[in-house]
Amino acid sequence: MYYIGIDLGTSSVKLLLLGDEGVQNIVTREYAVSYPEAGWSEQSPEDWWRETLSGIKELTRDIDKKLVKGIGIGGQMHGLVILDENDNVIRPAILWNDTRTQKETDYLNNVIGKKRLVDMTGNIAFAGFTAPKIMWVRDNEPDNFKRISKIMLPKDYIVYRLTGKHCTDVSDASGMLLLDVENRCWSEEMLKITGITKEQLPKLYESYDIVGEVLKEISDELGFGKVNVAAGAGDNAAAAVGTGTVKNGDCNISLGTSGTVFVACDNYKADYENAIHNFCHANGAYHYMACMLSAASCNKWWLEDIIGTDDYTEAYADYDIYSDNGLIFLPYMMGERSPHNDADIRGMFYGLGMSTTRKDMSVAILEGVAFALKQNIDIIRSMGIDINKSRVCGGGTKNKLWLKIMASVLGIELEVPENQEGASFGAALLAAKGSGDAMYDNAIDGLKIKEVITPDKRLTEKYARKYELFVKLYPAVKSAIRP
Ligand code: XUL
Repeated sequence: MYYIGIDLGTSSVKLLLLGDEGVQNIVTREYAVSYPEAGWSEQSPEDWWRETLSGIKELTRDIDKKLVKGIGIGGQMHGLVILDENDNVIRPAILWNDTRTQKETDYLNNVIGKKRLVDMTGNIAFAGFTAPKIMWVRDNEPDNFKRISKIMLPKDYIVYRLTGKHCTDVSDASGMLLLDVENRCWSEEMLKITGITKEQLPKLYESYDIVGEVLKEISDELGFGKVNVAAGAGDNAAAAVGTGTVKNGDCNISLGTSGTVFVACDNYKADYENAIHNFCHANGAYHYMACMLSAASCNKWWLEDIIGTDDYTEAYADYDIYSDNGLIFLPYMMGERSPHNDADIRGMFYGLGMSTTRKDMSVAILEGVAFALKQNIDIIRSMGIDINKSRVCGGGTKNKLWLKIMASVLGIELEVPENQEGASFGAALLAAKGSGDAMYDNAIDGLKIKEVITPDKRLTEKYARKYELFVKLYPAVKSAIRP
């Protein structure tokens, strides 16, 4: 028996084949992001579908395709996909890291008010969330707005193309600011505020629910028999399942394009104070999450676009990590979500001197992302949640130096699971669970840790000093650019 797990990411779709013997194959297909104006970030749903379909073909090329039993999809969250009455895509999807909606976000937080928003949805508004995007289309593209028949999230579009069903799951829907997270249903009040109806929204499911089967013509094209499709999950909830982050208090840090700190919790608890998300988990419970918009993407930008290398090892080779160069990097390359909720802030290096080297700057980027993660973890801790170790996943975890820096900055042990695919693995497990296969429980209970990274005492001391300055820099820069 096989299950396919799909992670519909921002730069690529990752597909994973899970069989009785574990992970059998992995395929990655890239697609483009377009940035039509400053702060905008869009993608074509048709590109997602084309690459996913051909990726599935490649993934299953060498197996008995009739043994594929289920497909689960995790995906980039918050993106707005709108379809007309014939289910045609009306405009390119507006992505999670698009920051055009500061005005709508300010209206929601300041006029509707944060307290009311938290009472209705469990969350305050962030520029990347879906409801402000819908309001932006309403106010800036009224013709497109009038044509909306269905609203969905990126991975839901793939589920729609596979099954013909308009549906979503509660973990991903939590990031729309339209869901009453506590009660796992749409918030009628928020729909009114946004100007949409319940009929325009997809049907809600738990992440592991099977929403339907792959359509006959697609199944025939793929050589499959009857294949279940699970509702799936937001990529972070799917990654949490994939790293076994399901018990109350379990923590997972994902170092992908975005950087997230994900803490599973059994019960819902409203939090009016902080810029931390309060979402439904894919396992039927809840979670807190802090999301940084730029994490591994800072490193990719620096090494590939600025230095012009794809040799991630050479960039840090022979670097004396204990030396203190006084250099601090603020990783706010696309504005920042958690904890600042500031779409206009941008990244910077502070402390450049005549002795600063290229390697100092490369390492400062790794440190800056780790400091920003610490700031979020400190806020989660201030909510009374104890974090004394964390799992890690995502592309950035392949960088050993980064893991050492992170463990030392955070002062906790980091556990690297044997399977670092996170979201695609978790998505495959959700399809297995929905299909009544014990693989989900077995994988979570038996999750293997490949390596534990422990904090280095000398580094922890050095970073404690640097972190003090790091936290002072954002308010200083903010007051300088918006006195
Ligand atoms: C989470 C978030 C990002 C995207 C990236 O709130 O916006 O992690 O899901 O894929």
